[in-house]
Amino acid sequence: MIAIGSDHAGYSLKIEILKYLDENGYKYKDLGTCDTKSVDYPDFGLAVAEAVRNGECERGIIICGTGIGISISANKVPGIRAALCTDSYMAKMSRQHNDANVLALGERVLGPGVATDIVDTWLKTEFLGGRHKNRIDKISDIERKYIK
Ligand code: RB5
Repeated sequence: MIAIGSDHAGYSLKIEILKYLDENGYKYKDLGTCDTKSVDYPDFGLAVAEAVRNGECERGIIICGTGIGISISANKVPGIRAALCTDSYMAKMSRQHNDANVLALGERVLGPGVATDIVDTWLKTEFLGGRHKNRIDKISDIERKYIK
């Protein structure tokens, strides 16, 4: 199950991504927003991050105007590794090396074709483990250092 959410500035791209998910047989949970009325991106970054964090969804996709604000927000949730990607190479590396469990996209930065290609690559690429696992563990150590 994929959790997906956007703010108003990412809403139109979210509709394109939902079309891709439907056409390719992916199950998803759309956590909003539902139109282009102005909302606050942290609310949707949090909703998707919590759905992944609590195990309800294996992965998440978040979209705002640039992808920056919503990825910063999602990355505040312990255990979330949200990767803002602007091309398929970044999407591939974010899975292979960083085990990113949330993909962030910017509607005002990407055309729908490039964005859909990023999603396709990201969903199909697996984590390589090995030396990369040690580095992911160090990210978790940073979280533990600051969680009281
Ligand atoms: C909304 O205007 C915009 O600030 C938001 O979608 C995002 O780009 C923030 O990082």
